[in-house]
Amino acid sequence: MSRLALLLLLAGAHAVAGFKGMANWKVPTVGDYMRRMEAEKKFGSKKLVVITGTSSGLGRKTARALLRTGKYHVVGAVRDLEKMETIAEIDEFDPASFTPMHLELNSFESVRAFCDQLYDFKGAKHVDRLICNAAVYQPSLPYAKWSVDGHEQQMQINYLSHFLMISKLMPDLAKAPDPRVILVGSVTGNDNTVGGGGVYPIADLKELEGLKAGARNPVSMFDGYNFIGAKAYKDSKLCLMMLSNTLHDKYHKQTGIAFSSIYPGCIAESPLFREKRPWFRKYFPIFMKYITGGFVGEEEAGMRLFQVAHDPRCSKSGVYWSWNGGPREGRGEAALEQDGQILGGGGAGGGWDSIYENDQSDKVLNPETAQTLFKYSSVITGAEWPPANQPKSPCPTLKLVGAMTSMANRREELKRMQPAPGMVGGGLAVGKSAVTVADTIVLGTASRVVKLAQNRLLGELPVTALTGSLQADAPSAPKPQRKGLLRRLRLRRAAPAEPTALAPAPAAPRADATPHAPDDAAPAAAPSDATAEAEAEALVQIESRIMGVIGEYNATSAGQRERVSA
Ligand SMILES: NC(=O)c1ccc[n+]([C@@H]2O[C@H](COP(=O)([O-])OP(=O)(O)OC[C@H]3O[C@@H](n4cnc5c(N)ncnc54)[C@H](OP(=O)(O)O)[C@@H]3O)[C@@H](O)[C@H]2O)c1
Repeated sequence: MSRLALLLLLAGAHAVAGFKGMANWKVPTVGDYMRRMEAEKKFGSKKLVVITGTSSGLGRKTARALLRTGKYHVVGAVRDLEKMETIAEIDEFDPASFTPMHLELNSFESVRAFCDQLYDFKGAKHVDRLICNAAVYQPSLPYAKWSVDGHEQQMQINYLSHFLMISKLMPDLAKAPDPRVILVGSVTGNDNTVGGGGVYPIADLKELEGLKAGARNPVSMFDGYNFIGAKAYKDSKLCLMMLSNTLHDKYHKQTGIAFSSIYPGCIAESPLFREKRPWFRKYFPIFMKYITGGFVGEEEAGMRLFQVAHDPRCSKSGVYWSWNGGPREGRGEAALEQDGQILGGGGAGGGWDSIYENDQSDKVLNPETAQTLFKYSSVITGAEWPPANQPKSPCPTLKLVGAMTSMANRREELKRMQPAPGMVGGGLAVGKSAVTVADTIVLGTASRVVKLAQNRLLGELPVTALTGSLQADAPSAPKPQRKGLLRRLRLRRAAPAEPTALAPAPAAPRADATPHAPDDAAPAAAPSDATAEAEAEALVQIESRIMGVIGEYNATSAGQRERVSA
C-alpha cells in the first residue's frame, strides 16, 4: 500500500473515531461532575473488580493477587460476611481496596439486591472486571437440594444466579475501557478431555427438556432426567462455558467486553470438596499430586485466575483459557521433591507464559443448545438483555433515514400480515394500534411518493419479471398502479363530472386476479371523494416538484458535460 493511501486510511479512521466520539458525547451536568469526582476520590485510578466467593479457595487467592498489585479495588461478593472479615484479616487485605458485600447465590432476590448495592457503592465508577467464581459441588447426595427459588442448588449457585448477575452488570461493564467477564469453568464440563469425557457421569444438556419445563422443584436436572449430583455440577460448568461463548457472539462487538471462561486446574485441596466423604478428601489430593500429576495448589490457581483478569493478552474475547504442560511428566520421586508441584497441562507449573487457548468440546460449541439455554435461562431468571446488534454508524443522516424506514417497514409488514390464502404466520401478529394515525398518513403519503418516483424514474417492470410462475394461483398480473389516481384526476379536470347515475357498475373480478394480493383482495376503507381529491392534489404537487428536481439535475449534468467536452 502506498504511503499516501496509508495516510488517507489513517485520516479516515481518525475522522470516524472523532465522529463516533461526538455522537456519544452528552453535555455533562453538575451532578455528573460531582459523581465523577466522588468516584475518583474513592477509587483513584484503580480498576474495579467484582469477584464472587472471595472467602475461600480460588476466589480468596485471586483477590489477594489482585490487591498485591495496588492496581485494583476488589468487591468480594460473599454469603458469609463474618467469615470474609476473618479471612481478610488473616490475608491482610487493605480495607481501602477491598469491600466485602453480601451475596447469597441461592436466591435471585439476593442477586438483585447485591447489584443494587454495588451500583450505589461504586457511583460513577464502572465495573472493569466481573469474575463469576463461586460454586458448590454436591456429588454425594442421592437427592437434590433446592434453592430459595426452587432450583437445584448447583445449577442456581454456579450458573443461573451468575447468569442474572451478568445481565444486570453488563450495561455498566460496557462503559469501562477494557472490560472483562470471566466465568470459572472446569475440565469436567468439557467432554473432550479425560477429566470431562472419561469419568461418568458426563456433562450433557441433551434437549434441555428440564430447563424448558422451568427446572423447578421437582425438576432437578436441565436435561429433564433423574438427579445425579456430580452430573448437575458438570452440567453447571458446561452451561457457564456455553454462556461465555454466547455472550461473546452476541455482545462482544457491541459492548467491547471480553467474555472468557477458564479451567484453573484441579485444586484438589480446596474446600470445594467439603461435601465429599473424609477418605476422599484425604486421598484425592495425594492421587492428583503423585499419580496423575494434575494437582494445582490454591495459590497457583489464584495466580491463573488473576492472570486472566490482569494480563493484557487476556483481553481477547471468546476464549477458554488453560495452562500448559503435561500431567504425566514429573510424577513419582520428582514430584515428592517438589511437594507435588508437577509441571503439567491442567496440572501445576508452567507459569505465566504457559497460558493457552484451550479447545472446547462439540457440546460446548453446539449453537442450537447454546441458544435454547440462553433463551430459557433468561425466562427463568427474569434476566433482561439488550438487543444484540453490531455497532452502528453514528452518522446523523443515516440515523434519520433508519428511523424513517423502520416506521415504513413496520407499516409494510402490517399490510403483509392481512389474512389471505397462503399466510400461515398467525394473522395480524402486530396489533394495528401499533400504527398511529399520524404514522399512516405521513408514511402512506411518503410511500406513495416513493412509488411514484420509482415508476417515473425506473420505468415499468419487464413482462418476463411478472410472468413465468409454474403454479396456477401465483401472481400473474401486475398490481393496479396508484398513478391511475393521477390519471383519474387529470381526466376529471379535463371533462365535467359524470352524473352519478351513469357511474359504472363495479368491475367483475379478473379471472387471473391473485386472490391473496393484499392491495387487491383487502383494500383499506375507500377514501372519500374529498380525501382522494386532496390526496391526488398533493401527489400532483409532489410529482411536479420531483420532476422539477430531476429536470434541474439533468440540465446541470448536461451543462457539466458540455463544459467538459469544451
Ligand atoms: N477445586 C477444584 O478442583 C476446581 C477445579 C475446577 C474449577 N473449580 C472452580 O473454581 C471455583 C472456586 O472453587 P474453589 O475450589 O475455590 O471452591 P471453594 O473454596 O469452595 O470456593 C467456593 C466459593 O463459593 C462460595 N459460595 C458457595 N455457595 C455460595 C452461595 N450460595 N452464595 C455465595 N457464595 C457461595 C463459597 O463461600 P464460603 O466461603 O462461604 O463457603 C466460596 O467462597 C468454582 O467455580 C469451582 O467450580 C474448582
